[in-house]
Amino acid sequence: MNINWYPGHMKKTKESIQRNLHLVDIVFELLDARIPYSSQNPIIDEILGDKPRIIILNKSDLASERGNSLWQKYFDMQNKSSVLIDALNNKGIDKLMELSYLVTEEKRDAYEKRGVINRPIRAMILGIPNVGKSTLINSLSRRKGTKTGNRPGITKTNQWIKTRGKLELLDTPGILWPKFEDMEVGLNLAFTGAIKDEILDIESLALKLIERITMNFPNLLNNRYNVDTEGKMYLDIMEEIAVKRGCLIKGGEIDYTKVSNIILDEFRKGIIGRVSLELPVDR
Ligand code: G4P
Repeated sequence: MNINWYPGHMKKTKESIQRNLHLVDIVFELLDARIPYSSQNPIIDEILGDKPRIIILNKSDLASERGNSLWQKYFDMQNKSSVLIDALNNKGIDKLMELSYLVTEEKRDAYEKRGVINRPIRAMILGIPNVGKSTLINSLSRRKGTKTGNRPGITKTNQWIKTRGKLELLDTPGILWPKFEDMEVGLNLAFTGAIKDEILDIESLALKLIERITMNFPNLLNNRYNVDTEGKMYLDIMEEIAVKRGCLIKGGEIDYTKVSNIILDEFRKGIIGRVSLELPVDR
């Protein structure tokens, strides 16, 4: 999916989400656990105001355990409710349900006092493209094949998806625009596949990724591709990987595009290993 965000789209998205906020008790703000800062919409606080919110760190299976734990501590320190999940494999979903009950406790009590019993908890999912909104809806509702529409904001009129327990979800998640603020954020979004726009050519992107992985997770490339990275230039590492993986064109020259695609693809799928690309201490 590729949405071109213009100021007009952003304004419309913001307004349509705000129009729908009164329908829900709670907002599930989906972030990518590998890049919680870069995958957060820049004006989410302004959009949501004081609406109860749970920060969901999705794709936690692809992020490092240390990164996951540091980010959870970071949100705890700010008194923000957060939960690590892996929507693809239904991990952390029970915790998310528990937290949803906890965060809405006061509201549910107030309803019960007024005699309204068994009122569902209603939630809306928000997040930038590709962060896992459809996957989470499917996981919560145990249904297959829902795909997020490729229009920004909330596009359909309010249908509720019943999930386990008392939780009901607004059927269409809100698609938010990502940050565009600097090159680092852009790179993080491109590494993880959140933006398909080529902010760099594929070879430079893969080279930058090699740099990040080598600096922060020095054993991973060695483990995956059997290349010794110590003290080597990033381009040399890429070329060694290319040779090991047979990415050569006629005459034995390196096929840089092919090896770059392999590295990016294997990173995105978690085959290279679990990598957190940003930590709260970087911020
Ligand atoms: P969206 O609605 O927010 O746009 O995201 P969607 O659910 O379509 O998920 C985007 C991709 O991320 C999908 O991969 C999906 O399987 C994957 N994904 C979602 N949640 C998780 C998770 O917790 N862990 C892992 N490992 N992957 C997750 P895809 O079908 O291969 O799509 P694409 O990446 O080719 O676009």
